[in-house]
Amino acid sequence: MQDLAGKVAFVTGGASGIGLAMADAFADAGMKVVVADVDRSALAAVGDRFRGRNVPVLTLELDVTDRSAFAAAAEQACDAFGAVHVLCNNAGVYRGGQLDQVTFEDWDWVLGVNIGGVVNGLQCLLPRMREQGEGGHVVNTASMAGLAAGAGLGIYNASKYAVVGLSEALRADLEPHGIGVSVLCPGMVRTGILDSERNRPPERTGSDPAAEQAAREHNAFMQAMMVTGIDAAEVGRIVIEGVRDNRFWLLTHPEMKPMVEARTAELLASFGDPDPERQAALQRVLSGSAGPS
Ligand code: NAI
Repeated sequence: MQDLAGKVAFVTGGASGIGLAMADAFADAGMKVVVADVDRSALAAVGDRFRGRNVPVLTLELDVTDRSAFAAAAEQACDAFGAVHVLCNNAGVYRGGQLDQVTFEDWDWVLGVNIGGVVNGLQCLLPRMREQGEGGHVVNTASMAGLAAGAGLGIYNASKYAVVGLSEALRADLEPHGIGVSVLCPGMVRTGILDSERNRPPERTGSDPAAEQAAREHNAFMQAMMVTGIDAAEVGRIVIEGVRDNRFWLLTHPEMKPMVEARTAELLASFGDPDPERQAALQRVLSGSAGPS
């Protein structure tokens, strides 16, 4: 999508950090921007800021885990601006802790927002984007934690590997419709992510002291990791270039490449030798030449 001026972007989790930086970058490119977020006060400040800059903006209070609210938000966005061309499924939360210490509430909250939010964005907006017939682009925010896993990151890893996997499939599914897909996998970015609990609903909050302690310890480690953090504005620039050039992998931290290499090397070394008959059969299926048996 080279020509972004006048087009419409819909950004979830757009009231802070990376989402706000994307909204900024889209506004600078002359786009109309829908900023959807669960945080009412942050959203109000963002609306004021954009209107002050004369950017056509629609702020929507939205919990991305709420399917009917997401459907209503999609409708409001299309009513206001006529279409949605760039969908950024970005809202996400972080909760650390070893998997033998976390709670059901931890799982439900993180998977609900980080995977459920992406699912709801796709379900509510993709049909409209297809019907518009004007092409478009989807940016799903995963993480480096969607490409390599580590102790204390299990729930977050599970959520972000899912976003990477569904994005790879989505790219193939949407290609015939002229809708591009990017998966954003940032390393550490200086945002509010390590204070995600500020938006945690009470019904998704556990009361297990051991889990709280594990999460606190892990958060201290992640705070230390922030020395490698970059500004969200840099991520905004990477995203807008990715949308313009239809790039799939949007990466921010080349320093993390050895982690992905080590994982990939172990994975590849674990394959045995292929069975020739199965290999030939697979080739026939993939090339479409396998007839019914
Ligand atoms: P942030 O905390 O600054 O922004 C996240 C935004 O999502 C907030 O405005 C928050 O109100 C909103 N949000 C949370 N739950 C929501 C819900 N249920 N419905 C709607 N909005 C909700 O954090 P950041 O870093 O900007 O996070 C954006 C995305 O980037 C997330 O998906 C996160 O997992 C991902 N990410 C962040 C990294 C970092 O180091 N900051 C690294 C890798 C990925």
